Amino acid sequence: MGAKILDPREEPTALEQAARLLKKNQVIGMPTETVYGLAGNAFSEEALTRIFRTKDRPTFDPLIVHLSPKMLESEAGGPSEKLGLLGLIDLPSLSDEVRTSIDALAQAFWPGPLTLVLPKNPKVPDLATSGLPRVALRVPSHPVAQALIDAAGTPLAAPSANRFGRISPTSALDVRQELGDRIPLILDGGECSIGVESTVLGFLEDGTPVCLRPGGLPLEAIAELLEREVLGKEALEEAHLSGRATPEVSLQAPGMLASHYAPKKPLTLLQDPDLRLLPELQEYARETYVGETLGLLLLAEAVEPDLAQQLRQLTGRKWIVESFSKDGNLEHVARNLFRQLRALDDSQAGVLFAEIPREKTGLGFAIADRLTRAAAKRE
Ligand code: TXA
Ligand code: MG
Repeated sequence: MGAKILDPREEPTALEQAARLLKKNQVIGMPTETVYGLAGNAFSEEALTRIFRTKDRPTFDPLIVHLSPKMLESEAGGPSEKLGLLGLIDLPSLSDEVRTSIDALAQAFWPGPLTLVLPKNPKVPDLATSGLPRVALRVPSHPVAQALIDAAGTPLAAPSANRFGRISPTSALDVRQELGDRIPLILDGGECSIGVESTVLGFLEDGTPVCLRPGGLPLEAIAELLEREVLGKEALEEAHLSGRATPEVSLQAPGMLASHYAPKKPLTLLQDPDLRLLPELQEYARETYVGETLGLLLLAEAVEPDLAQQLRQLTGRKWIVESFSKDGNLEHVARNLFRQLRALDDSQAGVLFAEIPREKTGLGFAIADRLTRAAAKRE
């Protein structure tokens, strides 16, 4: 299990210890408001190599570079100008439209769960962007992440701190479970308040925003601020066909691999499950999963107090019934999503079922995206 867990609220030298490791190009666990990250110096090839190796992550999946609000403070000029000065983005290649958009977005939503994918400055190592011409940037709102970035004195590249393809970690203990034997230190910043990763946004030449990964910031909020529609991935493909996107905007977002966020056990998704009537479930239980305990995660706590018992009578199998939240509120569902999935995966249940939200707007879009990938067939 190895990794030491230190809480900067209790251990005054925690940040100093962490910064010392980062300066030696080590990688460590870092809390953010979305999920925990595996952080290393974004300008160090050695640290970047270590990030990929520690996660078993293929080098074709690019990293997000994290900045602190302090780094973006400036007397004059907007955030885009500062990102250029920091050697992160290639300012001259930004169109005025894109520049106006990113300044507005950064001012409205940073720090927070928004990642912007922008033309990269040559100073950013190719390893950070997997050789792509664009770099992903985010300013996390978690105070420990901000303090760590400032203590390290450099932007930090940080993918989610899970083994590649697995469930993202939302507590220091989750990180230890995933990577504890591979890293020296995890900073403990408590449970993540948002619980799903940032929304990743790119731009077409004409400034049209494109969602590369739904996440903690609802697309509706972005559309409202920019007063324009945010394209989805499908629209991006159409833009290619019609010549609106340059080839390099083939913004493949590899986090969009079909199977991702996956539990170890098979997961099946259900919409609005009417549990007693669902023939599929009964069929599964009766014929397929002989001898298995079955696990079920609902969006809100079950109305029937003895649902597990009822299901047992119906199916002749033992059931573990849990929920992502008490009330079904999607913010609460997102916050507990990965934790509950991980807990059920670690329970006695051999086969998992989860309810997926009906709403594909707001956080419902990101939650449905994560669950769909968690349930996808693996290669
Ligand atoms: O909330 C988050 O974003 C968390 C925390 C730790 O900040 N980080 C995170 O990183 O989710 P990761 O590595 O698990 O996901 C990064 C994803 C990539 O898989 C890809 O989809 C997208 O961001 N991405 C990064 N760089 C990109 C680029 N140059 N072009 C297109 N997509 C990029
Ligand atoms: Mg990830």
